[in-house]
Amino acid sequence: MIKMKEAFIKTRNNSIKLGYKYLLKPALFMQDPEKVHDRFTIAGEKLASNKITKSTTNLFFNYSNPVLSQKILGINFINPVGLAAGFDKDARLTDIIPKVGFGFEEIGSITGQKCLGNPKPRLWRLKKSKSLVVYYGLKNDGAEDISKRLKDKSFDIPILTSIAKTNSKETVNKQAGIKDYAKAYDLMKSIGSISVINISCPNAYGGQPFHDRESLDNLLKEIKKIKSKKPIFLKISPDLTKQQIDNIIDLCHKYEIKGLICSNLTKNKNNPKIIDNDIPKVGGISGKPTEDISNELIKYVYKKTQGKLIIIGVGGIFNAEDAYKKIRYGASLVQLITGMIFIGPQVISEINQGLVKLLKKDGFNNISQAIGIDAKY
Ligand SMILES: Cc1cc2nc3c(=O)[nH]c(=O)nc-3n(C[C@H](O)[C@H](O)[C@H](O)COP(=O)(O)O)c2cc1C
Repeated sequence: MIKMKEAFIKTRNNSIKLGYKYLLKPALFMQDPEKVHDRFTIAGEKLASNKITKSTTNLFFNYSNPVLSQKILGINFINPVGLAAGFDKDARLTDIIPKVGFGFEEIGSITGQKCLGNPKPRLWRLKKSKSLVVYYGLKNDGAEDISKRLKDKSFDIPILTSIAKTNSKETVNKQAGIKDYAKAYDLMKSIGSISVINISCPNAYGGQPFHDRESLDNLLKEIKKIKSKKPIFLKISPDLTKQQIDNIIDLCHKYEIKGLICSNLTKNKNNPKIIDNDIPKVGGISGKPTEDISNELIKYVYKKTQGKLIIIGVGGIFNAEDAYKKIRYGASLVQLITGMIFIGPQVISEINQGLVKLLKKDGFNNISQAIGIDAKY
């Protein structure tokens, strides 16, 4: 019976994969990437608004297996694959994302003020490099609107609320920046399961000032004054020096930060995995070019903290092997965006099913047993 279910899901995924590769993707990749993103958001909202389309989506994409379920910080995760921040910027897709097979979702990043983002164009595909160049600049409806909309909402999967500093000249001043983060944090503090402070957006006025020790110390001091039951995670860049990572880890201990999301877009346009020509001068890079640097960061943080900080691994996950590598390096959970765009939405189910196979092959009964196995300290 179990074998039949697994075989059916594999066939279903393969059929959707072929349809995506040969029909949908060629049509989508001919259109402007931001327009496609917007249309997918509208389509996702429509699918979620009707019981039948919602359960049909579930039928096409869902996969579950107890081997993948974990309780982390008292929160139940049915599987370890989450949607990374930046796809559902205004939290419009929280009802459909679980039906596409994700085990959790990070909404945002959400800022203190509503933010129109950087001028268009601000999203490009690097087809050969399996990557995107992202220059959105934190476009979102702002914490006031979004928190009002989500206030009484219940969610089917854990929701992580990513907050960032409004992308404007006014928040370049450090104190103003901290005030802006604190406003968004306060408004979002009782929504979802985990708060994420994104200190690594590569596309905002003033750069990434909170990777600096003193500034991050001041930011976390202010955040900690606001009482919330939700654990806090930080999302960091893959371009940090060892010294910067060590400082961040120190501050995580000082302020009881429970986890790190490793990692955001890279700013390094000389990354050897970028093989396309004509790379836009602006923006951060996602996908395959971020994979190795994110993996190195995961391994380093896991070793350095002896597994005491929860790590969410993100960057360049396109299949189960990619996800498994991050888990074995120390990630308890993983996230993706670019893989879903290049391979299709069935990739979430494919990754989950593939993970079960890989875990069983290595003799593990549950995913938690594999975390950090390749980063022994
Ligand atoms: C279109 C797009 C928008 C993004 N916006 C955000 C954001 O608002 N906040 C954030 O923390 N990360 C953002 N990211 C970074 C992703 O969350 C992720 O860290 C990065 O893309 C690497 O994962 P991937 O290779 O699976 O895409 C964005 C990425 C993409 C592709």
